[in-house]
Amino acid sequence: MATPPSLSDLANRVAETRNQPAYGHDALITCDRLVRIFSADGIEVQALQGLDLLVREGELMALVGASGSGKSTLMNILAGLDTPTAGAARVAGHDLLTMTARDRLAYRRSTVGFVWQQTSRNLLPYLTAAQNVALPLQLSGTRTRKSRRARTERAVELLELLQVADCRDRPPHELSGGQQQRVAIAVALANDPAVLLADEPTGELDSRTAAQIFDAFRTANETLGTTIVIVTHDQAVAGEVRRTVAIRDGRTSTEVLRRSEIDATTGHETVVAREYAMLDRAGRLQLPADYLRALDMRERVALELESDHIGVWPDDTH
Ligand SMILES: Nc1ncnc2c1ncn2[C@@H]1O[C@H](COP(=O)(O)OP(=O)(O)OP(=O)(O)O)[C@@H](O)[C@H]1O
Ligand SMILES: [Mg+2]
Repeated sequence: MATPPSLSDLANRVAETRNQPAYGHDALITCDRLVRIFSADGIEVQALQGLDLLVREGELMALVGASGSGKSTLMNILAGLDTPTAGAARVAGHDLLTMTARDRLAYRRSTVGFVWQQTSRNLLPYLTAAQNVALPLQLSGTRTRKSRRARTERAVELLELLQVADCRDRPPHELSGGQQQRVAIAVALANDPAVLLADEPTGELDSRTAAQIFDAFRTANETLGTTIVIVTHDQAVAGEVRRTVAIRDGRTSTEVLRRSEIDATTGHETVVAREYAMLDRAGRLQLPADYLRALDMRERVALELESDHIGVWPDDTH
């Protein structure tokens, strides 16, 4: 029998645990057991049920999931438009649960930018594209406010970066859906936010235009270094990013990571995709539903610890 740890051993272990950095200390976005419960007409809907998510600075990632799985609920919380019921959410050092109304307003104006699915929700109809982009610059804090000329210059620069400079003097109704969304990305980037959030930004567009919008996000990520989180139903869009996280029933369940590998002999680059499951700090793991069905795993599984992996087998006791 193994000897029990001595008191001093235990004391050391406790001290080690205390010194461990907090969950997500080096992430730009940290969601820790995030819960959002909506109550309407006496009925409770648990839209987020303890969601964990870490996003590192400079990432361009996609969130996917069935309708009603909680994607928009999460985006609204990250955008500072809604507050979680419980759990923790931090973005670029801002605590989204304890923020004052004033901090929240400043947060929405300068820390995050967002692009919505409805093209009409992103732009003011009576302003030109350039005026739409200049507006957030005008609304930013007095300390950082630029002169009118500098604002126009910045707006045109962003429109050029997103390849819609020719639209600068036109109002939204004179632009195509794809052009409107590119202008919307420019608006969202105007104040140089730490994070750009987009909820189904290509939902109203055909697949070719959707691919162009996606290129615009990639340009923003690569050129400006902005961290970008995109909610999408579009598998083609999801396939373009290195990391796609799936949300199921208000929790993150699996994620696909893509890595490019270069063949040493041919020099060809191929993208290798691999599916991972989320493991929470309590050791809980959600196995993909199709894997469970394939092996008829229910209620209980047999586990075995091997030197480099853990084996999971269907219950063999009945
Ligand atoms: N304001 C609200 N009041 C009550 N219930 C809400 C509210 N907002 C969302 N819900 C519920 O929360 C759940 C998650 O909704 P959410 O909009 O986050 O899903 P989603 O993943 O964005 O779906 P979709 O892909 O259809 O956009 C749903 O059951 C929805 O009905
Ligand atoms: Mg939604």
